[in-house]
Amino acid sequence: MLSVLDSQRYVLGPEADALETEIAAFCGVKYGVAVCNGSDALLVSLMALGIGPGDEVIVPTFTFFATAGSVARVGAKPVFADIRPDTFNVDPDAVAAAITSKTRAIIPVHLYGQCADMDRITALAQRHGLAVIEDGAQAIGAKRNDRGVGSYGTAATLSFYPTKNLSGVGEGGMVLTNDGDLAARVKSLRNHGQTGQYEHAWIGGNFRLDGIQAAALRVKLRRLPAWNDARRRHADRYDQAFRGSPVTPPPVEASCHHVYHQYTIRSPRRDALRAHLTAAEISSGVYYPLPLHLQPCFAYLGYRKGQLAVAERACEEVSSLPIFPEMTQAQQDHVIETIRAFS
Ligand SMILES: Cc1ncc(COP(=O)(O)O)c(C=O)c1O
Repeated sequence: MLSVLDSQRYVLGPEADALETEIAAFCGVKYGVAVCNGSDALLVSLMALGIGPGDEVIVPTFTFFATAGSVARVGAKPVFADIRPDTFNVDPDAVAAAITSKTRAIIPVHLYGQCADMDRITALAQRHGLAVIEDGAQAIGAKRNDRGVGSYGTAATLSFYPTKNLSGVGEGGMVLTNDGDLAARVKSLRNHGQTGQYEHAWIGGNFRLDGIQAAALRVKLRRLPAWNDARRRHADRYDQAFRGSPVTPPPVEASCHHVYHQYTIRSPRRDALRAHLTAAEISSGVYYPLPLHLQPCFAYLGYRKGQLAVAERACEEVSSLPIFPEMTQAQQDHVIETIRAFS
């Protein structure tokens, strides 16, 4: 970070170039393009694929807002699909049912750090000639059948927001792809679509990453495998402790290597459980309390309550427990004992 200050290359520069190469290699893809956050990584991917008004993009309804917000921001229509009740990830049958002649892309989200059912989703996309943008904001390092998230889609996006498994000292994100032309288009779009000096082939935006963020991320990337392993160990301990308890631990598919951005349990008495945790000075989060198809800003799409029932129920039952690499055994025991005492 000090060398970035010395160089005065504050925006992109050699640290960002190196970060792109290192993260692409880590994720098993050819190209990485560093951008300013995970939300704009989605936006610029959609722009680079030429998706806009008149197009439909299928997204899960149970995800962070940016997954669908980015679709609306390019003028396309988000089409919401329900999730699977076990993994919380988008249900490929629901995706298949949502495909129309206007569908251009699918954005599966690897929610909480577990890879979505990419075998079925990529097969569907191939059959219908659709692009796939993996929203990997929560899942850097996760795998399915030993294949890393980010390597399945036409493009994939990452977020380096400070709470993420690989986090910067501020905002950051990346677009990943194996397609050289697409990578070049994203690079141009992140810099106002510039193709030569002050020559603009496309209308882009300022989606550039700061050099200081890149420098910090490069140092932290070296530690990411150990940090993800620590999260997995903590999750394993929670799993064992919650067998036969009043809460349901998060199921993991046999082929999946989960990286536990969140450790999310289910309880039909979620709000009482959270109050009980708060009384013991344990923080918990609800990701997410309202599905996207019922958000006020998407009322124009005409969805009704009850239409995507699996996600709606998850919104009422999920809560995420503390999990972070440095968590001590004593801290975790306090969470476990408090949950066990919940009746
Ligand atoms: C699933 C998902 N997509 C996109 C984003 C957006 O990333 P950022 O906050 O870096 O814009 C996030 C961040 O929380 C996320 O969780």
